[in-house]
Amino acid sequence: MDTHVANEIICRPVHPTKLVPSLTEDVTAGLFASSKQLPPKYFYDDHGSALFDRICDEPEYYPTRTEDALLESSARDIIASVEPARIIEFGSGMSRKIRHLFRACSELECYPTYVPFDVCDDVMIKSGEELTERFEWLDVAPLSGDYTAGLGNLPVEGGQNLLMFLGGTIGNFTEEQGITFLSEMLDLMGPTDQLLLGADRMKDPDILHAAYNDGAGITAAFNLNLLEVLNRELDANFNRENFEHYAFYNPAENQIEMHLVCMSDQDIRFDALGRSLSFKEGDAIRTEISRKFTRETLEGMLHQAGFEVRSHYESYAYPFSLVLAAPR
Ligand code: AVJ
Repeated sequence: MDTHVANEIICRPVHPTKLVPSLTEDVTAGLFASSKQLPPKYFYDDHGSALFDRICDEPEYYPTRTEDALLESSARDIIASVEPARIIEFGSGMSRKIRHLFRACSELECYPTYVPFDVCDDVMIKSGEELTERFEWLDVAPLSGDYTAGLGNLPVEGGQNLLMFLGGTIGNFTEEQGITFLSEMLDLMGPTDQLLLGADRMKDPDILHAAYNDGAGITAAFNLNLLEVLNRELDANFNRENFEHYAFYNPAENQIEMHLVCMSDQDIRFDALGRSLSFKEGDAIRTEISRKFTRETLEGMLHQAGFEVRSHYESYAYPFSLVLAAPR
């Protein structure tokens, strides 16, 4: 019989230091405007998170499996060079990829505490329990909150910290937002702490296009789900049948853009806002940008935020970067 009793996993709340706009404010500023756009974070309700999970398993969507393989092959090197006492992961989700690092930790007899930081306590606790079953030495100490709401209240102790921001999510920020977020992480870091950043790279536009237009239509469903979120949260009446998923690579901006394009005129009521908006055929909402970096633009952004690059791990068939960087 297994008599090992795992420590209870308790989430500590992180209070915002910045005002984040509410959905109402984002919709007011982003939809009731001539160029319509919404922040991608609203994709991730329960259904949207499940769809994103399925996207990651689609054959055309290379980023997740590419980053995973890269993390697996560089894990020993990363752990040996940082020797972390704590691993703090921003946007930890289901904590899938982190296993590779913990396997390397076991091998190298380095036993950090894992600090996932995300919005959903239940997911962090469940994923944490699975991890502690697999890695008996592991302590999981989740932080719950919104990492876009400022990091000033994040309890970060001294010792070696490895901060991680994976998945290429940095690409969903504009250059300016990206530098701001990297600087906020830098402000938390001591001189010997390091950041591991995962970012997607420029590649054949056909490959990029396919990744955001998978044949099974999961990305389309993920994009269109945003309309269901608006219907539910703001008592709106979008008919998703009137909208089409449109994703393309914009070479001038080096980014994938996802849009929802209105295919026939429709008056949308937002009962929760007491307002309505008339969508015309061809009107589009930009729902996401996903920037594709070169080695140079990625390292340049880190540099501008105050980092120096220590190691740059990259994959070749489907270029993707994992960069280990330290305060300069
Ligand atoms: C992992 C959040 C960065 O931009 O590729 C996947 C989100 N959007 N398919 C990405 C996403 C459409 C994804 N991120």
